[in-house]
Amino acid sequence: MAIQIPKPDGIIDLGVGQPDLDLLPVTLFRSMTLRRENLAYGEEAGDHRFRQTLATWLSGEYEHPVDAERLMVTTGNSNALDLICSRLARAGDTVLVEDPSYFIALKLFGEHGLKPMALPMDDHGIRLDALEAALQRHKPAFIYTIPSYHNPTGITQPLERREQLVALARHYRCPLVADEVYQCLYFGQKPPPPLACYDPKAPVLSLGTFSKILAPGLRLGWIQGSGDIMPSLLGSALFKSGGGLAPVSSALVEPLIANGELQRYLVGLRQQYRSRLERLYQGLHSDFGERLQIAKPEGGYFLWVTFTDGTEPMRRLAVAKQQGVSYFGGPLFSANKGFANSMRLCFAWYAEQELTIACKRLARLFARQ
Ligand SMILES: Cc1ncc(COP(=O)(O)O)c(C=O)c1O
Repeated sequence: MAIQIPKPDGIIDLGVGQPDLDLLPVTLFRSMTLRRENLAYGEEAGDHRFRQTLATWLSGEYEHPVDAERLMVTTGNSNALDLICSRLARAGDTVLVEDPSYFIALKLFGEHGLKPMALPMDDHGIRLDALEAALQRHKPAFIYTIPSYHNPTGITQPLERREQLVALARHYRCPLVADEVYQCLYFGQKPPPPLACYDPKAPVLSLGTFSKILAPGLRLGWIQGSGDIMPSLLGSALFKSGGGLAPVSSALVEPLIANGELQRYLVGLRQQYRSRLERLYQGLHSDFGERLQIAKPEGGYFLWVTFTDGTEPMRRLAVAKQQGVSYFGGPLFSANKGFANSMRLCFAWYAEQELTIACKRLARLFARQ
């Protein structure tokens, strides 16, 4: 089988958070050529030409200057997180995370022997009072946050929250790891710039990836660093042995950015996802009304919905699958196993027609007896 998760027969699975195969732009890659150097062991921070082009594009996207020297290439955000765990933490260390958070990051931290400590969020992201108390009491290896279109809640930190968060990281000298996977997937106004853009002296790593804005099979991403943590990542024997990451993918993507094809593709992609979000949101709203509290995001991949009447979606999951629909339950995303009344629904993987059918199936599944 060529792909990680094929769409299941007979079930509309709103749990899976992956791009729709039908939207992947294979035609953009039809006539690409490589230079001989692209096939050699690459520069350790990643191909220079690619980083220059990436920096120019990101500077426009973020409306904030990005320096190519402050970028390193990764094979995606999962790879960046793994590298960060290896280089910035030791087994037994605490990592401060949002509650809820990206479930696979929690799993990855666990695999490195780290202990995620879940901190509460409000409508503007991680709560700073709780964060500061935790920074004072523990000596965490790092803070992990998802600032834009958070997975799973869809929340975006406003500018002021970002500034305060970065100031805390600097004050307590605690590395701040910002997983900015959905940063460029806005449907209206842009979110404020990534956390690495605020203070050149603060120890911040902003992780970016092409997985959700171009193609996950490229395994291509980047880390933008402020402060002085990047050299300790690049000091890994991984780079000494294997050179920079993803030289071939970098060479394939560089011209797509330089000639504007990525940017044009992204305009269409944002429109597609915005329509899908609207379809799922409206469908749920009309079928469930006040019974569901739905935080509507302004970008990203996910709707986070919470039953206001005590219903626990996980308890209905087996029946849901029999009735042709699926989702991820809230506790999966919580280091404290909270959020029993919530579920995460992805609007990116299916076309609008299927989302409408999924809403009807959910309405039937959760109909009051
Ligand atoms: C918050 C978050 N981080 C990382 C990833 C994975 O990123 P990549 O494909 O770049 O490894 C995802 C994908 O679902 C995600 O939602």
